[in-house]
This record gives sequence, C-alpha cells and structure tokens, in this order.
Amino acid sequence: MQDTLFPLLAALVGYLVGSLSFAVIVSRAMGLSDPRSYGSGNPGATNVLRSGNKAAAILTLVFDALKGYVPVLLVLQFGARFSLGEGTAALVGLAAFLGHLWPVFFRFEGGKGVATAAGVILALNPVLGAATLLTWLAIAYFTRYSSLAAIVSAAFAPIYEMFGWGTGPNVGVLVLMGLLLVWRHSANIKKLMNGTESRLGQKAAVAP
Ligand code: G3P
Repeated sequence: MQDTLFPLLAALVGYLVGSLSFAVIVSRAMGLSDPRSYGSGNPGATNVLRSGNKAAAILTLVFDALKGYVPVLLVLQFGARFSLGEGTAALVGLAAFLGHLWPVFFRFEGGKGVATAAGVILALNPVLGAATLLTWLAIAYFTRYSSLAAIVSAAFAPIYEMFGWGTGPNVGVLVLMGLLLVWRHSANIKKLMNGTESRLGQKAAVAP
C-alpha cells in the first residue's frame, strides 16, 4: 500500500508546487501587468523580460526553476526514509513540470515549462543540468532566440542522459518533458519558420 501511496503523495505535492505560476505571482507582487496580457502571452521568464523589468524576469526564472529543483532534491535527500528512490524523484520532477503547464491554481493555463524543466534536470543530475544549460546558453547567445534554445536543449537532454548515464527513469521523464515542451512551443516554431519570432532583448507593448 505504502509502496504506491507515498510516491503518489510526493507526486501530488510536486504537482501543487509546480502549479505556482511565478510569472503571474511575481508580476502581481511587483505591481506589473499580467504577463498573459502582453508579448507571447506566456507566463514565463522570457515573456516577463519583454515588460522591460529585468528583476521580475530573473525572479520568475529563479522561482520557476526552484519549484522543479526543490521537490526533486527533497526526495533524493530524504526519500529513502519513506522508501522513495530515484524513480519517485523523476516522477515528482515530472509532476512539478506538469503543474507548471497545467496549474491547478491558475485555471490550468500555464507556461511552457523551460525554467521548471531546468530545475528538475539540475536536481536529478547536476552534470546533465549543467550540460543542458550550456546548450541553452550557446544557442541563445548565437541566435538570441530563447524558444529555439529551449527546444534544442530539450531535445539534447535525454540524449546526453542516455549516452552519459544509460537508460532509466530519468530518460523516460526527460523524453516526456521534452515532447511536451516542444509541443508547447508550437506557436514559437511557426514564428521561427516565418521569421517573426522575437529575439531576447526585444520589448513588448505592455498594457498599463
Ligand atoms: O520560456 C519559454 C520560452 O522558450 C519562449 O517564451 O514568451 O517567447 O513564447 P515565449
């Protein structure tokens, strides 16, 4: 009974934590416009940056990443007391990611999951997290497209994991997160293909 109950409870907590949409929370706390009302309409750090408020974007990025990082780390650190292993840590990470995409506190209208996925990956496997972040930084630096950097990094993460550490629950979760993340970027992919995707640093018209 506990074999399934504890992992499911841990996943539920992960989902609830992931449901905290920090783009909206931080913007509200700082008296800024709702990020769902300007730019791409995405509640994420990249779109908050389009408001011109770098501090809000950085806070969004950090908190959205932490909500993926902390639950996974807690399971890895203390899960053994409740017979929770690496498989549950991966499941909890996936649940936090799903919470970001479909947040129960925000009418299930969430973001694209990039920062949260980064937090999950960093906690599951710090070396893989560093390699994935470097991939993101390299693509973002050379192209200035946050979305393209996220899509390429999401595609490479499971490949890095498979070649570096072999198959296991992490690979399954990385593939699932990657597929969902790419799907969530469908509008970005269309804009990248027709040349209308906005680059990092470009501001949006923000409603007062
Ligand atoms: O973090 C999401 C990013 O990859 C794309 O965001 O606002 O340009 O759709 P956005």
